[in-house]
Amino acid sequence: MPNQFNKLPIVIDASYLKPNVTSDMIASRKEKISQIDGQLRSGNHPGSDFTGWMKPDQILSADEMSRLKATAKRLRDETDVLLVIGIGGSYLGARAVIEALADDPDKVVYAGHNISAHYMTRLKKQLAGKRVAINVISKSGTTTEPAIASRIMRKLAASSKHIVATTDSKKGALLQLAKTEGYETFVVPDNIGGRYSVLSAVGLLPVAYAGVDIDALVSGAAKCAGLCSNADPISNPAYFYAAARNVLYHQGFSIEMLASFEPRLHFMAEWWKQLYGESEGKENMAIFPASVDFTTDLHSMGQYIQEGRRILAETFLIIDGGEPSLKIPTDADDSDGLGYLAGKEVSYVNSKAYEATAKAHRDGGVPNMTIHLEKLDAYSLGALIYFFEIACAVGGLMLGVNPFDQPGVEAYKKEMFKLLGKPGFESAEDQCLEPKFVHF
Ligand code: PA5
Repeated sequence: MPNQFNKLPIVIDASYLKPNVTSDMIASRKEKISQIDGQLRSGNHPGSDFTGWMKPDQILSADEMSRLKATAKRLRDETDVLLVIGIGGSYLGARAVIEALADDPDKVVYAGHNISAHYMTRLKKQLAGKRVAINVISKSGTTTEPAIASRIMRKLAASSKHIVATTDSKKGALLQLAKTEGYETFVVPDNIGGRYSVLSAVGLLPVAYAGVDIDALVSGAAKCAGLCSNADPISNPAYFYAAARNVLYHQGFSIEMLASFEPRLHFMAEWWKQLYGESEGKENMAIFPASVDFTTDLHSMGQYIQEGRRILAETFLIIDGGEPSLKIPTDADDSDGLGYLAGKEVSYVNSKAYEATAKAHRDGGVPNMTIHLEKLDAYSLGALIYFFEIACAVGGLMLGVNPFDQPGVEAYKKEMFKLLGKPGFESAEDQCLEPKFVHF
């Protein structure tokens, strides 16, 4: 294995967390984190049945990995486009990796993550005349959004050989359908919840279809698992991140923005928001995870971030190298005033925009840190995925919540089922919940 694979391709710059977060404050979390680390590794914590993601290179057996790659290749060879049907943890991880790394991310499209008639109608038109493969992904097999999309979209598949179901190994409506229709199946492991499942077949099949190196993705995650295994938040960057968030939260910084200057990372932030929001947001606690795409959002959210209510902390996700060369051209007409930048790389200007933003926000009262990635490739992204997962698990346990359940997600479903008249959900009291239009 090449040398650079022996170190973590992630570096944290915490200089702009000061004075809010100091090394003494991080050190003060050491005992708690060490205790949580011990619990996580011995399986003695709330949600201990859901830590299969902690061994990224053991989630799939070698045989299953080979079958997955063969299926991805067959589908890729025989179709023009893959439609991924899923929601939440059953779709965001794959999309995050594909949008960040695939040469042609548009070869994969998505449904089942909304209930929009307009979206699905437009997608059907877009797919007309194309050879379509479909991967329906649902652990429960009964989630309303993907179930509706699956009914509507399944007929677009080139044939039943081009539909793959990723679901529970033993039970559920999707498994039953797959058996009846003869779809190939992959398993959502029992010991991995949706938002931690990107490195299982849930994420890896679509990612492999998109042509991304899934071995490198998994090995980056496995390397991070090895390198982030000591319990000291000063030397373990993932635990440092968890500790810093905990310090900020207890100082009243109730919103963390994940900020990137690279549009390819937009869906990484979406995945991150689900990971942290669903894992920690319980019992009236936790940082609200938000995201911003810079420099775009500097021209919309920038004002609030600089001068609005001081409850914001910020984590920059920065790619240090590997960007394509694109120079700002020389132009005899300098009326746009850009002559001083002629000949400079666009990526250089972007990097200065980041440095300036981090300083301005710190000076404006937004403590921030930066997660630097050496470059954006499958290995680094795999490492980053594990980094966020382990930090999230530790962060949730520091708050005293179970970071692997999501009881609150059921509330909207219950109310929706009542309104839709789903059998078993009707009652007299429910009629009062019917929305009424009131004119004041
Ligand atoms: O993280 C989670 O567990 C959720 O986001 C689920 O993945 C999401 O609700 C979809 O569930 P299912 O895979 O059962 O359709």
